[in-house]
Amino acid sequence: MSMDYSIEVKNLTKKFGDKLAVDNISFNVPKGKVTGFLGPNGAGKTTTMRCMLGLDNATSGEILLNGKKYINLQNPMHVVGAMIDATAFHKSRSAYNHLKFIADSIGEPKSRVDEVLEMTGLTSVAKKNAGKYSLGMGQRIGIAAALLGKPEILILDEPVNGLDPEGVKWVRDLCKGFAKSGRTVFISSHLMSEMEQTVDGLVILGRGKVLATGSLDDIKRLGGDGNESLEDAYMKLTESSVEYKTDFSAIPSLDSTSDSLALPKLQ
Ligand SMILES: Nc1ncnc2c1ncn2[C@@H]1O[C@H](COP(=O)(O)OP(=O)(O)OP(=O)(O)O)[C@@H](O)[C@H]1O
Ligand SMILES: [Mg+2]
Repeated sequence: MSMDYSIEVKNLTKKFGDKLAVDNISFNVPKGKVTGFLGPNGAGKTTTMRCMLGLDNATSGEILLNGKKYINLQNPMHVVGAMIDATAFHKSRSAYNHLKFIADSIGEPKSRVDEVLEMTGLTSVAKKNAGKYSLGMGQRIGIAAALLGKPEILILDEPVNGLDPEGVKWVRDLCKGFAKSGRTVFISSHLMSEMEQTVDGLVILGRGKVLATGSLDDIKRLGGDGNESLEDAYMKLTESSVEYKTDFSAIPSLDSTSDSLALPKLQ
């Protein structure tokens, strides 16, 4: 095992029937860093994360977490915490009961439930039924569950979807603080400007293949003349991997007489 890498993906392939979702990919996620996982819809991000957690079986290849396969981890929730599907809790349970159930099953005390509720800002609403929570609250519960086992590695699949600006900043600060303490974050998102503020390095997928890996600065440099945003670099890297093309020519233009949708002029 390399001590520098928390996650090692080695020649991972995942097929669903005839569908090749992940096509022989290899990359490493360095320890003590935030690594962003980007790629167009259907690129294979969630599938790769599910394989990391043993939720899907690889068709071939392997993934090591701290040098071991997930199934060989003695206490997996202490090694890796994950949020893959924010709606994956029982709707009739309160956040508190949901987290208490997980805590019991991994041997964490009740006090740890209180801690993660406090960390995720859910303390005051924790006893309400989960079905009554907003989308953002559901995301927070998912993140709270991921943190329960005090894991060394955090895997978050689009954690900021549906979060309010405070929540988005909170996830950013959580990721950075987590990495600063020597632990590891692997986070997917479609929000380029948010990723730019959060990650140290990136893995970019397209159609089941790795398109690029590197530090944030390295990736940004791939965008062109040295002054690019992550979005510019991302667009360039993925232009042949998106499932749709940017072509607005089929949209009829508004002629000057049909200006019922015209916006008021700025003064
Ligand atoms: N259980 C499944 N059965 C069949 N096909 C699947 C299954 N899960 C994923 N796929 C397919 O595998 C490919 C990769 O999907 P995946 O969800 O990993 O992409 P993603 O990068 O997470 O996309 P998004 O950004 O939309 O979340 C897609 O073509 C998807 O339709
Ligand atoms: Mg996904």
